[in-house]
Formats: sequence, structure tokens, C-alpha cells
Amino acid sequence: MGYALVEFRRNSRCARLFSIARAPEAPAGVGRSLLEACENEAVKRGCTAMRLEAREDNFRALRLYESAGYARFARVDGYYEDGAPALRLEKIFKR
Ligand SMILES: CC(C)(COP(=O)(O)OP(=O)(O)OC[C@H]1O[C@@H](n2cnc3c(N)ncnc32)[C@H](O)[C@@H]1OP(=O)(O)O)[C@@H](O)C(=O)NCCC(=O)NCCS
Repeated sequence: MGYALVEFRRNSRCARLFSIARAPEAPAGVGRSLLEACENEAVKRGCTAMRLEAREDNFRALRLYESAGYARFARVDGYYEDGAPALRLEKIFKR
């Protein structure tokens, strides 16, 4: 159905969603379920926030993240191999 990769670091309470993708044949909404599963795992490990990067033109991904409570806090020029900029987003988990 899809996959997601989250980085956890020993000295950080901030998790990082490194990559997430829904399989083309999987139904819409799987991305949201995957994201929630990642957040639940992060909370279980004691993390207080999740950060991620997304292409500025990846409207679908951005809509998913922002509707799930992620806020933009930075823009990085030339982040991707083709020179496209990235937006950095963060969600602080509510206790
Ligand atoms: C990004 C991704 C994981 C999202 O998963 P998903 O299962 O498609 O997520 P959803 O179906 O919940 O869609 C997310 C939102 O985008 C909206 N959306 C659908 N088609 C859209 C389009 N063409 N443009 C903009 N938004 C769109 C949906 O309506 C939904 O918003 P809503 O819940 O407020 O209605 C998935 O699209 C994907 O695998 N993309 C390719 C890989 C990728 O870009 N990964 C992210 C890297 S940062």
C-alpha cells in the first residue's frame, strides 16, 4: 500500500519524516494513514515534534501535511537534485 521512513536520533526529541509514498494502485488516503502511524510511533518513542521537507510544488503532499497540523518554518533553495526548493515543516505534538 505504501511506505514511510522516519529518522529517530538518540539525542533528539524531534523525529524526521525522511520519506513517504503511497503505492500508485493504493487508494487515496493511505498517505494520511501512514503519516498518522509515523506520528504515533514518534509519540511512543517520546518525541515532541516531527519535521519534514517537501518540494514547494508538491501540492498534494503539502495539503496533506498542512491539514494534519504541520506549519512551514523555512525554505531551502536548491534542496533537490534538479535545483528545486524545499519547504521545511514542523508539527509540535499536543500532550
Ligand atoms: C504525498 C502522498 C504520500 C499523499 O498520500 P495520499 O494517500 O495521496 O493522501 P491523501 O489522499 O490523504 O491526499 C492528501 C490531500 O491532497 C488532496 N489532493 C488530492 N489530489 C490533489 C491534487 N491533484 N492537488 C492537490 N491536492 C490534492 C486530497 O484531497 C487530500 O486533501 P484532503 O484530505 O484535505 O481532501 C502521495 O500522494 C504520494 O505518495 N505521492 C508521491 C510521493 C510523494 O510526493 N511523497 C511526499 C514527499 S514530501
